[in-house]
Amino acid sequence: MAWNAIDRKVPVIDPDAPPVLSEAVRDKIRSFFPRYETKRAVLLPALHVAQDALGHVSHAAMVEVAEILELHPSEVLDTLTFYTHFWTHPKGRKVITVCRSISCELMGGNEVLDALKSKLNIDEHGTTEDGEYSLVTEECLAGCDYAPCMLVNEKMHQRVAADDIATLLADSDIDVVAMERSDLFDAPDRACANTAVDGAESASA
Ligand code: FES
Repeated sequence: MAWNAIDRKVPVIDPDAPPVLSEAVRDKIRSFFPRYETKRAVLLPALHVAQDALGHVSHAAMVEVAEILELHPSEVLDTLTFYTHFWTHPKGRKVITVCRSISCELMGGNEVLDALKSKLNIDEHGTTEDGEYSLVTEECLAGCDYAPCMLVNEKMHQRVAADDIATLLADSDIDVVAMERSDLFDAPDRACANTAVDGAESASA
């Protein structure tokens, strides 16, 4: 097997691009400081806020989070890549996560996954061309009693049958969680953050 070579001569981050995190997002991250003894301990909330604002956590965002928390960017990268929840590249607006653990597999999880791949015309880790869906698998989603399970963003779907997939995907509320949620981790200003991202992308294009 050939090793993938990394081109270290081309910078991953454009040094002239504007910041990707808006001031509102930075303030939101700083608002966690009083809750923890160290800035380092704010790393996970900071990554949640950054991903909520930008849709993913790019290398530029990692560097900016590191600056805010007075960490080395590699420490941010190490933590981020440990968790499948965080994305380093753009993902679909709705992320479908199918459980791949034993209870769900025994109850038809693989058939559900195959039906999703077929219906969305993507493979695992793929994103549909319209940017609507990404598809991944993860270990137990903590709904084993109701296997097979899948998440659409934060909404859990239980006892899913492969034959139900077309109906589920046709439901515009497929990812709507019917409960009030805390604004703790939500980005404070998506419009502002998105403006910053657009600017960064056009600057680096
Ligand atoms: S095995 Fe699928 S939710 Fe636990």
